[in-house]
Amino acid sequence: MPLTSSAFTAGHFWFLVRNFLRQGQAPPAQEIARVADIPVGGSLLFEYPARSPARVLVRVDEETFVAYEQQCTHLLFLLFPQAEQRQLHCPCHQGYFDLMTGRPLAGPPRRPLARVTLEVRDGSVYATGILCIVIIIVLQLWLFTATMNAYLGGDVAVPLPAALVSLVCLGLNAGLLRYLYGLEH
Ligand code: FES
Repeated sequence: MPLTSSAFTAGHFWFLVRNFLRQGQAPPAQEIARVADIPVGGSLLFEYPARSPARVLVRVDEETFVAYEQQCTHLLFLLFPQAEQRQLHCPCHQGYFDLMTGRPLAGPPRRPLARVTLEVRDGSVYATGILCIVIIIVLQLWLFTATMNAYLGGDVAVPLPAALVSLVCLGLNAGLLRYLYGLEH
């Protein structure tokens, strides 16, 4: 457990240091489409990064675009946008996701969709990154849960160091989330 926590922490340090060193550089961006080519309510499939599973771009209104992975988080069936209802539909088991947030609304899916961060400039829509907050939160929760289990199981040597590393992870995750939020806005 402490080893896992330490590896987790080291990974975050590496991520933050790398991004600190990259400060001042624009995040990698990829043009997806011309704004004029997608009508309000329309959608487009694209790959980002190249050769990754398909993602879907949806134009919600004149100003707003959203993009997500196109695979359902239940059993990876394909999702179909329903822009008027502000949702994405998975016909496999009637799963629904909120179009504005990617959160599951109904059916078997429990995990939100990974969101592609977007930027609109010079008449084009650009993908600028993948928002993986869900993964971070799940890992953080797992870390705390494992620490608690060790404590309740009576393993006295584990809880204190694991809890300390978990707190460090929490601080690092807060910085990471702030960075990701900055990418999206
Ligand atoms: S695969 Fe999408 S709801 Fe089951």
